[in-house]
Amino acid sequence: TPKQNFAPRVLEWFDQHGRKHLPWQQNKTPYRVWISEIMLQQTQVTTVIPYYERFMQSFPDVYALARAPQDEVLSHWSGLGYYARARNMHKAAQKLVDDWQGEFPMSQEGVCELPGIGRSTAAAILSISRNESLAILDGNVKRVLARYHAVPVWPGERKTEAAMWQLAESYMPSERCGEYTQAMMDLGATLCTRSKPRCGECPLQADCDGLATGTPTDFPKSKPK
Ligand code: ADE
Repeated sequence: TPKQNFAPRVLEWFDQHGRKHLPWQQNKTPYRVWISEIMLQQTQVTTVIPYYERFMQSFPDVYALARAPQDEVLSHWSGLGYYARARNMHKAAQKLVDDWQGEFPMSQEGVCELPGIGRSTAAAILSISRNESLAILDGNVKRVLARYHAVPVWPGERKTEAAMWQLAESYMPSERCGEYTQAMMDLGATLCTRSKPRCGECPLQADCDGLATGTPTDFPKSKPK
């Protein structure tokens, strides 16, 4: 079956149901979006909010973060876990100041060279803050796409990864890029969840191959032991 109007459907759902008033959705500079993306990587939105507010109070820009002592940065992380995220972030801030005059690089490749920022996070930062047409593929988006195409994905398998990136790029629109990125994350986080997807509310239900099989939660498959 042809998959048409994917991005418009996702964007219309976002207009009606997406989250649009989170702290990092105000004044979407690359710096502010970057910090939010790193905090949100392994931590829920409701937990992140107060951490994000305190972090921005203490380190309102990349210069403040770069010159702060490491223990002060880590103390703002206490309770969030995965401290490598904070140490990489601190190093990346210093690199931005030393090598990039405090500005994020214009290219995705440049952003990917910063510690702790991979292809998907770079795309999230640049699409949300600069409206660039760059596809993301985090865990949530992988699940949405794997279900929509009933791909028997084994996450981490190289051939599958390449195919998933192709799908992600094929649906990436050239307009409303940042909203589309946020919409895909929200769709995966709130509707197309791992164990209890709410398919009846999904803008993709009409042509979702995973739903058509009757067991959408079979996708993505977990790696066989
Ligand atoms: N997880 C990672 N980035 C996110 C974002 N921008 N919104 C919601 N969840 C996320």
